[in-house]
Amino acid sequence: MATRTAKVIDWLDDRAGLLSVWNSVFDRKVPKVNWWYTLGSATLFVAMMQAATGVFLSIYYIPTPEEAYSSIDYIMNDVAFGWLVRGIHHWGATLMVILVFLHMLRVFYYGAYKYPREVTWLTGVVLFLVTMGLGFTGYLLPWNQRSYWATAVGSSILGTVPIVGDFLLRVMRGGDDLTILTLSRFYGVHIWFLPASLFGLMGVHLYLVIRNGISYVPRRDE
Ligand code: HEM
Repeated sequence: MATRTAKVIDWLDDRAGLLSVWNSVFDRKVPKVNWWYTLGSATLFVAMMQAATGVFLSIYYIPTPEEAYSSIDYIMNDVAFGWLVRGIHHWGATLMVILVFLHMLRVFYYGAYKYPREVTWLTGVVLFLVTMGLGFTGYLLPWNQRSYWATAVGSSILGTVPIVGDFLLRVMRGGDDLTILTLSRFYGVHIWFLPASLFGLMGVHLYLVIRNGISYVPRRDE
């Protein structure tokens, strides 16, 4: 049985080179580090959980002012394990913001953004902004009093940008007020634009982490 599995793996590896990919991703040499170095992987794990739970939520969620709130109510009370999936997505969002921030602090305090990891840092900055964008756009989706007014205030801040503020506000809201256009805009950005950017950028980020290797814990005299 074992040899048959080995044969299948050999056959596949000969044609797809999967083993070398596996080895460079999971079997690479890393310096002796500490628990702070696990924050990036923890963020990655939560991001994947968010994607998985988000896909399931999208089956029942309806992005209209009339149905948004009641569709979430339905998910929480009537759909099998809906409360669990929604709960993971809801708390996962907060956890992801905390984890990505702590990961960024770790990189900063250990000076891991220096040569040759500047581009890893830069892709990280965009990942941070995308994570915040996901939080902001997702917050409106339940369309309850809190999410409605939080978005009204948050988007009006954009309107204070000199010269182009008014234009940006109208683009974000799809008009002057928060309407169905705002909700569908936020929904589209929340489930397509931002997740696509997040996963694309995470791919580049992780490629660079593997390409450059993990930094070691800096010594006091460095
Ligand atoms: C979705 C967000 C992110 C994910 C999934 C992610 C993932 C990871 C992973 C798995 C690692 C390797 C292990 C580790 O050092 O923890 C890493 C390293 C790194 N990350 Fe991130 N990261 C994210 C956001 C950020 C942000 C916001 C920054 C900075 C602005 C950043 C900068 C870096 C740098 C410079 C390294 C190399 C660290 C070293 O070699 O010691 N990352 N990232």
